Order: sequence, then structure tokens, then C-alpha cells
Amino acid sequence: MLRPNQPPEACVYPLDEHPDSFHLGVRVDDDLVGVASFSREPMPEGDEPGVRIRGMAVLPGHRGRGIGRAMVERGLAIAAEGDDPPALAWCNARTSAAGYYAKLGFEQHGGEFEIEGIGAHVVMVRRLDL
Ligand SMILES: CC(C)(COP(=O)(O)OP(=O)(O)OC[C@H]1O[C@@H](n2cnc3c(N)ncnc32)[C@H](O)[C@@H]1OP(=O)(O)O)[C@@H](O)C(=O)NCCC(=O)NCCS
Repeated sequence: MLRPNQPPEACVYPLDEHPDSFHLGVRVDDDLVGVASFSREPMPEGDEPGVRIRGMAVLPGHRGRGIGRAMVERGLAIAAEGDDPPALAWCNARTSAAGYYAKLGFEQHGGEFEIEGIGAHVVMVRRLDL
């Protein structure tokens, strides 16, 4: 669903297996209906400790019920638990999802850019240290 025109390998990210990365899923009965991945990475051209959200998706029939919000808030709470809590959370959001991240307190950073095969994106950022 995230990469409808690409093979499943396109959903594998370099830091997936890193010990500081984690992956959340939401089940309804036996069905996995939502996924999101979190890894420790500074923003592009940034040097503050950051947590990056990737691979976030909720099955169409389950959207609009707070599942995405719940995964983000739980993920950011888990990321904040360690000895070196991130100062910010960020992601490359497809422009169609920028409004969703804005609802969760993220702000756009910089302008639009294209990710080949997926489309127009913006960096969305939420400070966690305020
Ligand atoms: C984006 C996505 C993960 C949102 O998941 P969800 O479970 O439907 O989101 P929630 O129900 O938690 O929504 C939280 C808030 O954001 C709003 N929202 C959800 N999707 C939105 C969108 N695309 N644009 C603007 N607002 C959106 C909801 O209305 C809700 O607002 P409210 O708190 O005022 O009611 C889901 O639509 C999806 O999987 N989309 C396709 C894949 C994708 O774009 N992933 C993001 C990659 S960057």
C-alpha cells in the first residue's frame, strides 16, 4: 500500500534492524491494520538528536479512527524513554499526508521535493524538548 508501484523490498529501510529502531503495529482482531517505524536519525542537515518516522500506513478501511495518531504518540513516548531522548521527531511526508502530521503538531520545514516513484514530499518536524 505504501509502495503500490514498487516491490515489497522498497519498504525495507537501512536502519530497520538497528538496536535503537522499533516498529509498531496495530491489530484489530487478527488483522494487522496499521504499521509505523521509528529510528534514531538527525534531520537532513541537522545535528540535533532526532527520531525519524517511516513506513507509516493504516489500511483504508480503518483510517480516520485515531490509529495513526495512536502509533505516533506511542512511538514518540517510547523514543523519549531512553537516556538520550530525541529533541525532535521528523519525517519525509508525502504532501497528501502533510495535513495529518500537522494535526499531530508537526510543522513543515522547507519546501517540497520529489522522491522518485512516490511523488512530492515535505519534511515535517515536531519539537519534543519544549
Ligand atoms: C496518513 C495515515 C497514516 C493516517 O492514519 P489514520 O489512522 O487515518 O489517522 P488518524 O485517524 O489518527 O488521524 C489523526 C488526525 O489527522 C487527520 N487526518 C488523517 N489523515 C489526514 C490527511 N491525509 N490529511 C489531513 N488530515 C488527516 C484526521 O482527520 C485526524 O484529525 P482529528 O484529530 O481532527 O480527528 C493514513 O491515511 C494512511 O495510511 N495513508 C496512506 C499512506 C500514507 O500516506 N502514509 C504516510 C506516509 S508519509
